[in-house]
Amino acid sequence: MLELKTIVTYGGALLIPLVFLIYRARSKAETPVAPAETQDKPLKPIMQPPTDVLDPPKDDPYTPEELAQYDGADPSKPIYVAIKGTIFDVTRKKDVYGPGQSYHIFAGKDGSKGLGMSSLKPEHAISDYSTLPENEMKVLNDWHSFFSKRYNIVGRVVPSTSANASL
Ligand code: HEM
Repeated sequence: MLELKTIVTYGGALLIPLVFLIYRARSKAETPVAPAETQDKPLKPIMQPPTDVLDPPKDDPYTPEELAQYDGADPSKPIYVAIKGTIFDVTRKKDVYGPGQSYHIFAGKDGSKGLGMSSLKPEHAISDYSTLPENEMKVLNDWHSFFSKRYNIVGRVVPSTSANASL
């Protein structure tokens, strides 16, 4: 009898902390821990989200020379960026496309080739994208759909009139 009493006393004393430790380890493993960033504040999206408040697309014709008037140099005018001939109004992103800003190279022109090549070099910011390989064509098409979801379409690029065709 003494032996059984000893086992029950010591066994019970060991069992209680053991059960507690197992329980604690299990509940810790099951509690999801938020990544460091989300604990303090929600992550800020890098790019502007798509907007569902776009105006119906316009089909107004702009020659490259007319389009060049909308490069942000004149603050009273909107800023336009053309991709594959479609002209987008990017005025609300002056901080990106305005003079001196990161993507000003694409303002007031069709710089499709540079967008496809992921290049900011002025010599690449041209409308002729016919030489792009397939993978860069995909990049360019992705940019077109990115802009289509975010910016109003205000028109399309048409060839220069004969009077200023040399430009
Ligand atoms: C180190 C390289 C680069 C970094 C860190 C970078 C970073 C960024 C960031 C943070 C944005 C979001 C800007 C915003 O929404 O305010 C952005 C957008 C953009 N990036 Fe880049 N970029 C890089 C290279 C390039 C290159 C080489 C191109 C050339 C095609 C490019 C073209 C663009 C365009 C067109 C947008 C869209 C801006 C918009 O309308 O929202 N980026 N980039």
